Amino acid sequence: MLQQKHLLGLENYPAEDIQTIIDTAFEFREVLERPIKKVPSLQGKTVVNLFFENSTRTRISFELAQKRLSADTVNFSASSSSLKKGESFKDTAQNIEAMKIDAIVMRHPTPGSPLQLTKYVDAVVINAGDGTHEHPTQAILDMMSLQERFGKVAGLKVGIIGDISHSRVARSDIFGLTSLGAEVTVCGPATLIPPEIEGLGVTVSYDLDAVLEWADAVNVLRIQRERMGVGLFPSVREYRSLFGITVERLERIGKEVVIMHPGPMNRGVEIDSTVADGDQAIILDQVLNGVASRMAILFLLLGGKV
Ligand code: CP
Repeated sequence: MLQQKHLLGLENYPAEDIQTIIDTAFEFREVLERPIKKVPSLQGKTVVNLFFENSTRTRISFELAQKRLSADTVNFSASSSSLKKGESFKDTAQNIEAMKIDAIVMRHPTPGSPLQLTKYVDAVVINAGDGTHEHPTQAILDMMSLQERFGKVAGLKVGIIGDISHSRVARSDIFGLTSLGAEVTVCGPATLIPPEIEGLGVTVSYDLDAVLEWADAVNVLRIQRERMGVGLFPSVREYRSLFGITVERLERIGKEVVIMHPGPMNRGVEIDSTVADGDQAIILDQVLNGVASRMAILFLLLGGKV
């Protein structure tokens, strides 16, 4: 039903397949509104969630998506596995596959590790975030949330704000949004915007007020202190004053702009609590759409039955 066996990233991913996933996700959103939120579509299929990095939203929503589709689901945590005894990634993957599984959902700190995994196993591989490379399922739920709010993604003006350099969400959003016909501007400190990012079809701005004036929606990224070797901006206070989505800033621009955030948030740094919890924010809609999007991805990749 989709042209590629795996979902490793959205770079060069067919636009029609992104749209098929989003359309299917809206059908599963209806399942999530029912009193009994479960369908038998993936009965008999087994999915392993292989997480080498911390996660709240992605891990829980994948697990919920699997349970809502009646798949059997197993969670693997690197910190309590035989990796701690020196077992290799390849041996770990091949031992898991020997237990007759159908798909692996993997989060790993190393860019490219999901592609490497496809060389070791026959199972379907879904990238749940690989280092600073891609986070395709997050981008799909972001696009679904935009379509839900605006009716379509094509023609939308979307700002991506903050730490673009370290963000897999930014990269997948850029690939997905431009593929579906949105206009994208990235905005943040010069030290957190990769050189030549315009080559990905985006505009660069260092003026947050101008981007907020222009945008229909902005996706506000977390400042990833854990991925920064050195301080790449002078202080949190300065970051907030130049690039934080504050109440004062939104009042000053005097127009509606939809606020998104992939989470986890640094409240009071890149986004004020009042904004995050306010009417313009669709952050918790994104979380719900994450379950529906991941149901759609699993269903389409594993040949689920209607
Ligand atoms: N958005 C996101 O990937 O959140 P988690 O790290 O909690 O999964």
